[in-house]
Amino acid sequence: MIIGDNTRMRNGRGLQDQWADTVAVRPRTTERQITVHRKLVLGFAISILALIVVTIIAVLLSLRYEECGDGSRRVINSSILEAARFNQNLEAGKDAGDGPNHLPEKDTEKDWKPWTFLRLPTHLRPLHYNLMITAFMDNFTFSGEVNVEVECLNASRYIVLHAHRLSVEKVQVAEDRVAGDVKVSNYFAYPPNQVLVVVLNRTLDAQKSYNLKIIYNAIIENELLGFFRSSYVIHGERRSLGVTQFSPIHARKAFPCFDEPIYKATFKISIKHQTSYLSLSNMPVETSVFEEGGWVTDHFSQTPLMSTYYLAWAVCNFTYREAVTRSGVVRYTEP
Ligand SMILES: *[C@@H]1O[C@H](CO)[C@@H](O)[C@H](O)[C@H]1NC(C)=O
Ligand SMILES: *[C@@H]1O[C@H](CO)[C@@H](O)[C@H](O)[C@H]1NC(C)=O
Ligand SMILES: *[C@@H]1O[C@H](CO)[C@@H](O)[C@H](O)[C@H]1NC(C)=O
Ligand SMILES: *[C@@H]1O[C@H](CO)[C@@H](O)[C@H](O)[C@H]1NC(C)=O
Ligand SMILES: *[C@@H]1O[C@H](CO)[C@@H](O)[C@H](O)[C@H]1NC(C)=O
Repeated sequence: MIIGDNTRMRNGRGLQDQWADTVAVRPRTTERQITVHRKLVLGFAISILALIVVTIIAVLLSLRYEECGDGSRRVINSSILEAARFNQNLEAGKDAGDGPNHLPEKDTEKDWKPWTFLRLPTHLRPLHYNLMITAFMDNFTFSGEVNVEVECLNASRYIVLHAHRLSVEKVQVAEDRVAGDVKVSNYFAYPPNQVLVVVLNRTLDAQKSYNLKIIYNAIIENELLGFFRSSYVIHGERRSLGVTQFSPIHARKAFPCFDEPIYKATFKISIKHQTSYLSLSNMPVETSVFEEGGWVTDHFSQTPLMSTYYLAWAVCNFTYREAVTRSGVVRYTEP
């Protein structure tokens, strides 16, 4: 490369020298030399003119082309803008102007619809869940009773928490450790955001804890989400099992809860099932209470502080083997 450049440089200098020579001999030129010169100059001028014309045409063409490109980009851009504006209008219409997780002034709480936001409002925080599940493996339904201890961070008349495909039968709110119930004016599901909204007769006070009790029932669905069922054949016999898949946002299909990872709480789970089944969960069974009619309730010990999606349970007919790994984790494996 360097050698080539040097050569070109040398050639260039050579040309310049030639021109210098011609210029130098001009005063002593003959008629023939002049005609040759004129032809050369003419040719030179024509080629320069042609070059200019070509350049102009090229520039014009490229300008046209760029305009074209710009135009189409503008079209795309404006369509994107329009789409954005459309979405904004939709949201504005739906959300009545309030930003998410923004508690309104007292006089505007009437207009505040916290269930219309994708994220839960932040005025309540779950501390502890007591969950009692009864699994009916004969007709693949289950009933549940959840008692959530919630801390109120900002005064509000609303309780908004996740619940999806649950049929809620009863909602009660009580002030913690005080007998007085907080009257529930109304409760309703808002399916677009998979939430249950409890409207209270009075505002919950900040810095206080309340107990939220919800009784509900649901189907042990035949899909791999929430609390679902599966079956297998063993010794020529079809057996069913119910297991859970809560990650990332399917705990709400099994019990009403604050189903966002930031809400960490402790959980105490009890599972009632027929004695031909056994139940498993994150924690070991503390006690099993047998009832007449072939039913048993397993009470599991309390979990550490954790998010809802970590929770798991199963109602099955497996015999299992419990093994403790060196790090202290209990594993259930086939015998
Ligand atoms: C929209 O236009 C702006 C400037 O007008 C430009 O920076 C941007 O890249 C364009 N966007 C698209 C998607 O063409
Ligand atoms: C399922 O069975 C249980 C008891 O066997 C019963 O109480 C419940 O109503 C049944 N559910 C449906 C939807 O049939
Ligand atoms: C909500 O309560 C917290 C403390 O409990 C406070 O820092 C925050 O400012 C309150 N937010 C509103 C909007 O009142
Ligand atoms: C609360 O309940 C009382 C008595 O049932 C009723 O008179 C009052 O209007 C209710 N208040 C609200 C805000 O619902
Ligand atoms: C599984 O079900 C069969 C038939 O109902 C029963 O005989 C067996 O004891 C059950 N196994 C367990 C571990 O419950």
